[in-house]
Amino acid sequence: MGHAHMTRARTPGALAAAAIAALALTACGGGSGEGLDASGRPIGEGGGGGGPAAPTFASLQAQVFTPRCTGCHAGAGAPVGLRLDAGNSYAALVGVASGEVGSLQRVAPGRPDDSYLVHKLEGRAAVGARMPLGGPFLDDATIALVRQWIAAGALNN
Ligand code: HEC
Repeated sequence: MGHAHMTRARTPGALAAAAIAALALTACGGGSGEGLDASGRPIGEGGGGGGPAAPTFASLQAQVFTPRCTGCHAGAGAPVGLRLDAGNSYAALVGVASGEVGSLQRVAPGRPDDSYLVHKLEGRAAVGARMPLGGPFLDDATIALVRQWIAAGALNN
């Protein structure tokens, strides 16, 4: 009797846990591996469910800077002295003043709207052209990853 009662009392909790697990699996099923919603925010944010981690600098290096930028931004002749090859990019970006608009940092940790890198990627910089120069430009989802990394503190992770 007592045992049956306890089993019944625990069932709703188990069902809820299963439902949450199913939701989490569905949310992660997009195939991108990044776990982001349409506006670039991590799925599960605010849900208390321990959502997927924010994009890492290493992932941005591999997906964006190395393939899309280092054709120009590498070596001694890198434009505006900005080297974006792995090993030089983080130190050249984070907390470093832009050469074109010296009042702005290339990457201001926690402040994507004040980061000159974002201005250049979105085509609204005060000086020069949109990056990557000549295009094709980064899509909104990829720019959102850069913004998200900066908003999360621009860690060297
Ligand atoms: C085809 C060559 C080329 C490519 C590819 C390119 N850039 Fe540039 N970039 C330049 C040149 C030239 C300048 C300076 C003139 C200008 O701003 O238009 C520049 C300037 C910049 C600046 C301004 C730096 C400062 O200190 O003010 C940033 C930031 C930048 N690029 C980021 C990027 C990023 C990020 C990518 C890759 C997504 C990229 N660029 C790809 C040629 C390139």
